[in-house]
Amino acid sequence: MVRVLFVCLGNICRSPTAHAVFANRVQAQNLQAFITLDSAGTGAWHVGEAPDARAQRHAKARGYDLSQLRARQVRPSDFHEFDYILAMDEANLRDLQALQPERAQAQLALFLSFSACRETAVPDPYYGGEQGFDHVLDLVESASDGLLAHILKTHPR
Ligand code: 4NP
Repeated sequence: MVRVLFVCLGNICRSPTAHAVFANRVQAQNLQAFITLDSAGTGAWHVGEAPDARAQRHAKARGYDLSQLRARQVRPSDFHEFDYILAMDEANLRDLQALQPERAQAQLALFLSFSACRETAVPDPYYGGEQGFDHVLDLVESASDGLLAHILKTHPR
């Protein structure tokens, strides 16, 4: 079993998008018994909330349903319960490194390190325009494909 946690700041825009897109890839290959996933935010402002309406709308246009997801904050036990904790940007990664307990086994990385695209971070779309949400989807789709290929290669069943 491979366990993946996607992390951004608020857990209402980028990481729920990654959660839904990667879940779609996992389901498409019938890998639900092999790969489990979740998403969380480093911040607590939106805990319990559904994803941002703009994130939901743009994702839905590409066939991804975010409506059932609810925001939660990263917790220390996550570092023991997940194999990969994937940050959307460098600030998220630094915050995760600061929270990481000693002897935790989770591997921390930027999500886009699994993507073939040039960008290293998924930009925060929260205070920007609508096109930012489409850009998030482009980056997340690319990185999801790369992450799935990486997992299948490095965790043979
Ligand atoms: P996310 O976007 O980290 O992609 O979920 C944000 C959502 C909310 C806030 C910042 C970023 N906020 O400051 O409330």
